Amino acid sequence: MRRLLKASPILRIQRQLRERSRQERRRNSRRLFHEANRLKRLPLYLFTILDELKAQATARGIDVIDLGMGNPDLPPPPHVVDELAQQVRRPENHRYSRKGGDVERKLNEAIAQWYHRKFRVTLDPLHEVLPLIGSKEGISHLSLAFLNHDDIALVPNPTYPVHFNGVVMAGGILYNLPIHAESHYLPDLRAVPRSVLRQSKMLFLSYPHNPTTAVADLKFFKEAVAWARAHRIMLVHDFAYSDLTFDGLRAPSLLEVPGAAEVAVEFHTLSKSYSLPGLRLGFAVGNRDVLASLAKTKSYIDFGIFRAVQWAAIKALTGPQDSVHRAVLTYQQRRNTFVQGLARIGWELPMPRATFYVWAKLPLKFSALTSLEFATWLVQEAGVVVAPGSGFGEYGEGFVRFALVEPEPRLREAVQRIARVLQMAD
Ligand SMILES: Cc1ncc(COP(=O)(O)O)c(C=O)c1O
Repeated sequence: MRRLLKASPILRIQRQLRERSRQERRRNSRRLFHEANRLKRLPLYLFTILDELKAQATARGIDVIDLGMGNPDLPPPPHVVDELAQQVRRPENHRYSRKGGDVERKLNEAIAQWYHRKFRVTLDPLHEVLPLIGSKEGISHLSLAFLNHDDIALVPNPTYPVHFNGVVMAGGILYNLPIHAESHYLPDLRAVPRSVLRQSKMLFLSYPHNPTTAVADLKFFKEAVAWARAHRIMLVHDFAYSDLTFDGLRAPSLLEVPGAAEVAVEFHTLSKSYSLPGLRLGFAVGNRDVLASLAKTKSYIDFGIFRAVQWAAIKALTGPQDSVHRAVLTYQQRRNTFVQGLARIGWELPMPRATFYVWAKLPLKFSALTSLEFATWLVQEAGVVVAPGSGFGEYGEGFVRFALVEPEPRLREAVQRIARVLQMAD
């Protein structure tokens, strides 16, 4: 490793990253208007750095393969796009969305029916369903709706950053629950100290899990619901990857546990299953009081979802689902190609059972590098963008996440380029 540090561009990268932080601090200190402390407390958003590095590599003429952000590349279902195009032309859809309107009612019903079809969970469309402008919006506003400055939110770490950033933005207290491969990336709820439990108001869960790809079974969810009821803690389940499971595996809904709706809400999105990340359509279901407070919070902030988008969402949820099945097969095939390719070049990783990510421990000979240094090195030397594990919380350090959002030939090319760069260290 010492030889790698001397001989490779790593020292240069470390200097660049240090210089970047210094410049950022200098820029901030010279500002006329200083950001609120809550923004200063947020960890660095690593995708901003990666975007910069990507732009620099592209400017140097490198054809960058972007496996950084979980931004689906598959085409959206054509019948949904047709519906959106038609509905955009209807003038009435350009008015503010109002609760109880025609499309608003139909969307809630479509969500409840979808839920019943997939999970056999019965929901009251009026009170137990809340459409969102993407699930990210709802998840972060949920913290705003519930956390006071002395309330604790329990957040597994590593995790999708919105789970902890939402808590920090809301001014609540963030309490990390480290999750590890040895315990299948499930939090040990019994290990939370009693004094912490007393102040805790919510626990975030998310399975299939971004970034680790772990899946939870119904047994874990049953234990979580019993624990939440015993301690009067709200369960927030982010179920963004509900459909993206492989080899016949099924991911259960937390609401399949009898009585779960007394303590739980579950978040969904059309972004991943239907390859519609730009549409900005998500929804929350479950505990009616929690949803009422989330709706109240949102009523002070937004004016609902563009009605044309709501019509398109109804088409997605009630129309043919073949595009979802095709997406699953495509991601499964990409996973096989990529993970087997990395194994051939000596980077052995567990086969993910869900999501479109690969969570990769840095090869031993690179373990002296931070995940940001390693990711920077891959962009600059291989033209491959990956997400550094530290972007998902401190327990993600030592890992990088590949998002399989490029076609198979590009993934094969990425493996070849990574192989070349890894050899530089031999
Ligand atoms: C776990 C998880 N939840 C939520 C989201 C955001 O989804 P949306 O597009 O609905 O805001 C993502 C996006 O990457 C995600 O990985």
